[in-house]
Amino acid sequence: MKKIAVLTSGGDAPGMNAAIRAVVRTSVSRGWEVMGVRNGYEGLINGILIPLGTRDVGGIIQRGGTILGSARCPEFETEKGQIQAIRSLNAYGIDGLVVIGGNGSQAGSYALHQHGFSVIGIASTIDNDLFGSDITIGVDTALNIALEAIDRLKITASSHQRAFLVEVMGRKCGYLALMAGIAGGAEYVVLPEFETDPEEIATILSEAYEKGKAHAIIVVAEGAKYNANALDAYFKEHRERLGFSLRVTILGHTQRGGSPSAYDRIFASRLGAAAVEQFDKGNYGMLVGQLKGEIVSTPLDQVAGKPKPLDKRLLDLQRILD
Ligand code: ADP
Ligand code: F6P
Repeated sequence: MKKIAVLTSGGDAPGMNAAIRAVVRTSVSRGWEVMGVRNGYEGLINGILIPLGTRDVGGIIQRGGTILGSARCPEFETEKGQIQAIRSLNAYGIDGLVVIGGNGSQAGSYALHQHGFSVIGIASTIDNDLFGSDITIGVDTALNIALEAIDRLKITASSHQRAFLVEVMGRKCGYLALMAGIAGGAEYVVLPEFETDPEEIATILSEAYEKGKAHAIIVVAEGAKYNANALDAYFKEHRERLGFSLRVTILGHTQRGGSPSAYDRIFASRLGAAAVEQFDKGNYGMLVGQLKGEIVSTPLDQVAGKPKPLDKRLLDLQRILD
């Protein structure tokens, strides 16, 4: 291995920059050259790569987002797009590629591996829906942003005896909603994985009101069948039965834009270094992540396309602690 490239793909996640920095500096310490690909697989197809040295990644560890840019690139899902991407890599004389991204991005890195290109994936998405890593880069920061918002909403909710529907990200995966619900002491969580009857929420709210609670928080994942706006519309009529008056807050992309937490910076630095180590050992076609507290690598064929189930025990815990 003499020259590697690194890209960030899919939804950006706080800590991606720390991972890029670690990949660059660990590689340079081994005497390798590094190039950064602009805007994920799109930049790979279009051959837009820039040299990255130690100084180019200075002052970025505390910055959210990704200095390389990211993109969703449907063209890369085609055989033609993938072959064009490999042509670009060959044109720049790249021996190996590091892909920092989530579920979809690692399906992409597996496709490159199947074409015979040396690739290592780094687990990074705020959704935490990537099989092969118990936690992914960005989750801790996104969760803390959601939590800070919930804590603030509780304060104003208490002043007015209101209930809030707080919508967090997660199109297919309720991890963020569930954990924000537990950590934020929510009355209920609504997740894409399990269907919720809005009547159940009505009962929970009215009972909480009757008990004399000053506020109530329902955390809703954006991908749930009844997202925050749908629930709000459902309760439009006969709102008085809820007891509380109801407000909606949609956190959306604020959760992705934060400065990475200490955890994410350290975790991303460790994964970046581990990715380079895998190249050094000749272990290609792997995802580096964390399982049972250890930094480990898992073959991409065991990761790509596999759904990561939600831990039902955590949902049971939330239901008890509400
Ligand atoms: P994330 O990596 O955050 O889950 P996406 O699911 O949007 O984000 O995927 C990011 C990109 O990965 C897609 O825009 C596409 O270029 C690539 N990708 C997704 N799925 C596949 C696939 N099955 N095969 C090849 N590339 C894929
Ligand atoms: O995959 C991360 C994520 O933030 C999801 O939680 C969310 O559904 C999606 O990306 C939003 O995508 P976009 O940035 O394209 O609006």
